[in-house]
Amino acid sequence: MSPLTRRQLLALGAAGAGAAAAGGAGLWWTGGDGPLAGGGRELVQPEVLTGRDGILDVTLDASPASVQVGGRRAELQAFNGSLPGPTLRVRPGDTIRATMTNGLGIPTNLHVHGLHVSPQGNGDNPFVSIAPGESFDYEFVLPADHPPGTYWYHPHRHGHVADQVAAGLYGAIVVEDPDSVPVSRERVLVVSDLTLDGSGNLAEVSPMEQMMGREGETVLVNGQVRPRATAAPGERELWRVVNACPSRYLRLSLDGQDLRLFGRDVGRLPAPVGVTEVVLAPGNRVELLVDTREGTSTLVAAPVDRGGMDGMMGGTVPGDGPGNDEPIELLTLGVTGAPAGEVGPVPAGPPLRDLRSAPVAARRTLDFAMGMGGRGGMGGMGGSGSMMSFTIDGRAFDGGRTDQHVRIGTVEEWVLTNSSPMDHPMHLHVWPMQIVEDGGRDLGEPVWQDVVNIPAFGRVTVRVAFEDFGGRTVYHCHVLDHEDLGMMGTVEAR
Ligand code: C2O
Ligand code: CU
Ligand code: CU
Repeated sequence: MSPLTRRQLLALGAAGAGAAAAGGAGLWWTGGDGPLAGGGRELVQPEVLTGRDGILDVTLDASPASVQVGGRRAELQAFNGSLPGPTLRVRPGDTIRATMTNGLGIPTNLHVHGLHVSPQGNGDNPFVSIAPGESFDYEFVLPADHPPGTYWYHPHRHGHVADQVAAGLYGAIVVEDPDSVPVSRERVLVVSDLTLDGSGNLAEVSPMEQMMGREGETVLVNGQVRPRATAAPGERELWRVVNACPSRYLRLSLDGQDLRLFGRDVGRLPAPVGVTEVVLAPGNRVELLVDTREGTSTLVAAPVDRGGMDGMMGGTVPGDGPGNDEPIELLTLGVTGAPAGEVGPVPAGPPLRDLRSAPVAARRTLDFAMGMGGRGGMGGMGGSGSMMSFTIDGRAFDGGRTDQHVRIGTVEEWVLTNSSPMDHPMHLHVWPMQIVEDGGRDLGEPVWQDVVNIPAFGRVTVRVAFEDFGGRTVYHCHVLDHEDLGMMGTVEAR
């Protein structure tokens, strides 16, 4: 058995560690051959659903599912019984018609994260609630100039988002590039995390874990524990990586291979950029070009310090917050055999739009804060709910209130400030954000993302072109527990 990480120790508690080592009813990873059971199996791609004549008709059934994870049965929730759900593959200009059915026993809904589509009616409307046993017909109409890239879908019913995503409800969306670049193959890599108990059920989440943002003990790629992929030397792969973890940040590296960042969140870069690592906050995606070299490489997620609650709970929290684990091996890539023939060069992509010279119609400041005395009052950690409040501009989420009114056709500048000791990855639906100032970071090429990390006690300035669609939608912290605890606001474009 591998040594306990600090986080695992925390999860077990002082007494639990001994019990688990003695083979008691410990956490799932402590039994049998531990968390790596099933490692080394061939990486599986989620089922791909493609449309016909510009229309993709799908049924997405969100239901409890018995799924094989790391060689064991796990009782999870999944779309169409698979972890992750099917990959939806479309082109710019296509329409996705998705019938979502709720077999969960609690309310849910569907969100297409990152897609630039209408938030109204049966579009990407986060205010829809699908009652247990009911279904809802969504229609997402992608504009003809929709940026190609990697997006994803997950439930967005306020109060249940973290639970449902943590339980397995997510899947990738690929918007194909009409000018695709030459690659030997593409892989979708949906990264998620979960904690199972000894009988394969999802472990209970404590109020403390919710306040920190839960991180699962086991990190999966396409629902698999440390799978293995193979390639020949000299090939070029396109990896579409989705961070579907409810709270975990991923600092990814793949030593021994030539890695280039090809796209980020909302489309490709004009030219790929050589990288040794990339960091994904929850919700972020990256597209990586891997030019393969002989040998075995491991895709590793190194720890990311996203702050903690020091000084907030009347003292220091043990472990000073999440993200202090050892590196986690996500996947191995074995490169062997006869070298492949030359893959052609990567042609330049279209230049990125730059809002830095655009006239700004309005400036706003949004402050992300954590305070004492949220749900459950000052009653301590024992009861239900959190004793801490999670707010934007001092207010917790109220779906009936409109927090920001913006004019369609204008560019706004939003200063995102964080007055708390934890990072908050801010996500805006429908309209992507261009980072124009980020702690003195040199922003040469325009940087576009739909999830932007606001560091603890830091600030980031973004610009948004509110165009193409009107309607009401949301922005929120993509640490999904924080969102459920109230760190979300509403914006209406008219
Ligand atoms: Cu990934 Cu508002 O969601
Ligand atoms: Cu989203
Ligand atoms: Cu947060």
